[in-house]
Order: sequence, then C-alpha cells, then structure tokens
Amino acid sequence: MIYKNIIRPLLFSLNPEKAHKVYELFVEYLPFVFLPFRVKSSNNLAAQKLVSGINVDNRVGLAAGFDKNAKVFHSIASFGFGYIIVGTVTLLPKEGNAKPRFRRLSQYQALVNSMGFPNDGVDKVVQRLCSYRPKLRNTALVVSISGTTVHEISECLKMVEPFCDAIELNLSSPNTKGIKVFHQKENLRELLKELNELRSKPLWVKLPSYGTAQVNGVYGDDYQKSKQLVLNLAQFSVEFGVDALTVANSRSINDSQMATGFGGLSGKILIEDTITMIKDVRNHVGDLIPLNGCGGIFDASDAERVIKAGATTVQVYSGLIYEGPTVAKNISKSIG
Ligand SMILES: Cc1cc2nc3c(=O)[nH]c(=O)nc-3n(C[C@H](O)[C@H](O)[C@H](O)COP(=O)(O)O)c2cc1C
Repeated sequence: MIYKNIIRPLLFSLNPEKAHKVYELFVEYLPFVFLPFRVKSSNNLAAQKLVSGINVDNRVGLAAGFDKNAKVFHSIASFGFGYIIVGTVTLLPKEGNAKPRFRRLSQYQALVNSMGFPNDGVDKVVQRLCSYRPKLRNTALVVSISGTTVHEISECLKMVEPFCDAIELNLSSPNTKGIKVFHQKENLRELLKELNELRSKPLWVKLPSYGTAQVNGVYGDDYQKSKQLVLNLAQFSVEFGVDALTVANSRSINDSQMATGFGGLSGKILIEDTITMIKDVRNHVGDLIPLNGCGGIFDASDAERVIKAGATTVQVYSGLIYEGPTVAKNISKSIG
C-alpha cells in the first residue's frame, strides 16, 4: 500500500533512469527507509534447497539488469529474494545506447528498454561484489556476463566466478546486436567449450524470446523461425552441460520512442508468452535441466502457472517496479 500509493507515484513522476538513480542514492545514504520492507532471513542453511545448481531459501530471483553495477544487490536481497542476479556486466565499461532508452508503458504494466549494457566494467563490479557480498546472508548471488567475443566473455567469467554462486550467460539481449554471433552453432560451441574448461561453478544460459512483438501482442513474421532458434540454442546448451536455462529475456520490439528505434519489451504483458516458452523448452529438452522462468511474473498466481508449465525457479524484474518490494515475499510464500 505504501509503495503503490506513495512511493511508486513519486518514482513514476521521474523518468525511469532517474528513478533508478534515486533508488541507488537511497540505498547508499538512507538505507533505513527500506527497513519496513525487510524480510527476516531464516539463517538456517540446512533448510536451503538446491535449485538450478545453487542453494537458496526460496525460488524467487531478481532478474538481470536491475543491479547492473552491483550497487544495490545487498539491499534488494533483504526484500526476500532467494537469489539475485547482478549485471549484465562486460569486460570493459560500456556507455550503452543513446537516450531515450528506457520508458514505462504503465497502461500495460510494461517497460521498454534499449539500454545496450551500460555498465562500469568487470573490474569495478568485482570490487563492489567484494565490499557488499558479506551483507547478503543466505541469498545466493549470480552474475550475468556477456560480450561479443569468446575472449571477452571468458575473461569476464574468470574475474567474477570467485565472488558468486553461479554465472548467467546473456546471449539474448535484443539491444546488443553483436551478441547474436553466438546464435550460430559453431560460435556457441567454441564459447561453451571454453567456458566449460574454465569454470568450476554452475553456468546458466539466458535464452532470447520468440520473435519481434508489438505492444498489442501481435507478432512479426519471424515468430516461427525464432522459436526454432530458441529451441536449438536450448538443446545445444543442454548438450554442453549447462546447469540451467533462463527462459527468457525481454521481447524484441520496434519502438520509435527509443533513440535506437527498437528495444526489449518487459512486464505483465509477457506472462502468457513466458508460459508458452517454458512449456515448449521443457518439451524440447526433457525433464532434467532446471528452467528459470522470466517475463511478466508479478504475483503468486503468475509464478504458480510458470512453475506448473515446467519452470524450476522464477525471476522478476518489472514486478519489482510495479508491485514494489513485497513482490518476492508474496511469491515465495506460495511457491517456496
Ligand atoms: C531496464 C531493463 C534492463 C535490463 N537489462 C538486462 C540485462 O542487462 N541483462 C539481462 O539478461 N536482462 C536484462 N533485462 C531483462 C530482464 O532481466 C527480464 O528478462 C525481462 O525484463 C523480463 O522480465 P520481467 O517481465 O519480469 O521484467 C532488462 C530489463 C529491463 C526492463
């Protein structure tokens, strides 16, 4: 109630990037304002469960992109998430795409972004992981990494792995064209082979969504082709022994209000597609590989449907913005 009636209208009066900065400032300088939203940690490691290769108190994760630079993950963890994904981080700092690159579509409880991985680079992120990780208690920490070459991604993995519980490989941002090189089998083979040689922690692969969408839910004619691509990427990742698949990233969308003219669609509007994709991927790759459902999960009922469709855990991004800091607690009460 406090969030929806007071905090959200204030934050929504700012543009989304400014609102995010304000949030980061509050975490740094006035952290006590979040006290009412804190969920008491069980502090009982024995009660944790192993999902997608990591030990968690519950199966609700914060999706990649909210804490790109590892500035606030310790604060968000206190809202009751079972795991937090920091990043996507790249080897070198990146400014990202031109602005405007982030907007709300409040009538659909949706977001469009064309950020293009703005981040401080892996060195800075690792420094912050070291500083803030001790504040995490039982919440598992996953770092999302990406890049456009095998070298760049492997170097990133080497640097972040000692400071996290698992890595999520982002091959799917609709806003960073270069990463599509890894949608070709030969390139993905080379990348996963290299990462397998280097890693000692679980590796997740975050898959793209099907096709280009419009806000009214109509798909472009690339739907079938891109569905096949997603299923092939899933199968191939499983053959290379990855520990979980995240289904899926934001949906590609043409949007003239983004400086780039395109972006990724997130939010409530995605829930039916997420369920469809989870069912398809589950049918395609079998029962053994854990799936993290992501896209449009706002409440316990969404999460239950995604789990019933075949997901092992759920991830939330837009739900945190529209529903507020109680979102993880509300969902985890139901799916555990
Ligand atoms: C502003 C913004 C930035 C994002 N940045 C990333 C990112 O860096 N890496 C990534 O894997 N996904 C990123 N995402 C996608 C989310 O992790 C998630 O897959 C997507 O928003 C769908 O989930 P939702 O409907 O719960 O928001 C971003 C989403 C938004 C809205």
